[in-house]
Amino acid sequence: MGKIRVGTVGLGFIANGVHLPGIKRSPDLELTAICDIDSVALDKVQKEYDVDEEHCFSDYHDLISCDEVDVVDICVPNDVHYPVAMYAIEKGKPYNLEKPIGLNKKEVDTLALQTTEKKLLHMICFSYRFKAAARYAKDLVQSGTIGKIYHANMQYFQAWGMPYQKTPLLWYFMKKHAGSGVLGDLGSHGIDLVRFITGKNYIRVIGNQRTFVKERQKMDNSEIGNVDVDDSTYFLADMEDDISASFAFSRFAYGRENYQRLELYGSKGALIYTLKDNSGEDELEACIGEPYASTHAFTSLAIPQKYHVDQMQSLADILLINGDGWSADIYDGKEDQHVIDAVIKSSKTNKWVNVD
Ligand SMILES: NC(=O)c1ccc[n+]([C@@H]2O[C@H](COP(=O)([O-])OP(=O)(O)OC[C@H]3O[C@@H](n4cnc5c(N)ncnc54)[C@H](O)[C@@H]3O)[C@@H](O)[C@H]2O)c1
Repeated sequence: MGKIRVGTVGLGFIANGVHLPGIKRSPDLELTAICDIDSVALDKVQKEYDVDEEHCFSDYHDLISCDEVDVVDICVPNDVHYPVAMYAIEKGKPYNLEKPIGLNKKEVDTLALQTTEKKLLHMICFSYRFKAAARYAKDLVQSGTIGKIYHANMQYFQAWGMPYQKTPLLWYFMKKHAGSGVLGDLGSHGIDLVRFITGKNYIRVIGNQRTFVKERQKMDNSEIGNVDVDDSTYFLADMEDDISASFAFSRFAYGRENYQRLELYGSKGALIYTLKDNSGEDELEACIGEPYASTHAFTSLAIPQKYHVDQMQSLADILLINGDGWSADIYDGKEDQHVIDAVIKSSKTNKWVNVD
């Protein structure tokens, strides 16, 4: 059997940084078609990855309809996820979809329903599920090593929104394109990571959202445009099994590039997962049992090789019916979006909101 032929739609930051190199690395995938409305982006990828000119499209309908595309890889801004994924579903093509999967739970519920009805293979790109430290933490938690979890404390911080960065009004700062701000961007990962590792769902949330910089220079000219999404979101959550959790997400964390920290405190031990922003390395520290508890000693764990996996190879494995079941699917994306919508509602009303 030949390789699985991938068509990538949206050739910006995440496609160039993660998807296209991952397709190239995989022995099971090959890039056969690309699509972008920006001809410069299209041209660059066509040359770099040597894609046939007749398989370079500016309209995603053409890429999805192309006979040489087996799976549709969706890397467009958030507002374009739904129409592209829906067309892939309509054409019966498996898909790989970036996060957050839609603008709101209405879109996401429809995608989940349609995907299930068509029984389509797919993957959602909650990338930090592929970090070895996160996978090891999940295994330790699921096997009861730290006992019953009382607290999950999740932080995800970057700094590119800060005034000194002079970041213009990218689509990330506009509700009509992004759905929400840092909550859907970084928060969607954090919400998923806690659910992935603990294996528990969200029950209710209460949030606090801020927009620190309310105007930014537009991309196309020197006019100033309004920011109508959150720069920072903090929230508390009650989760299944009586877990009390807290979340802090910001693009205004001075000095941070891509920093994550998840602290889990249980009845028999504690785990700390960290993504370090100077090296990009993930780490897992533990304090489990005596004498560590009484001396407050946290030790960095050596992470077994079996936890090291690759995001795009995981997509190939799903398509080859050989997935490990640990990649996110549309239902994980749906749960995530329901939490996002509940946090937005609670921030507006200053009340706890149940996650439905
Ligand atoms: N998994 C992760 O860790 C991670 C990290 C960054 C971004 N993302 C997600 O990836 C997606 C893309 O983000 P990005 O930072 O790469 O954005 P980007 O702006 O850098 O790239 C998006 C590309 O899509 C193209 N595009 C827009 N509309 C299109 C259309 N209708 N048809 C074809 N192409 C179109 C744009 O021209 C651009 O080249 C977002 O959903 C974002 O949340 C995920």
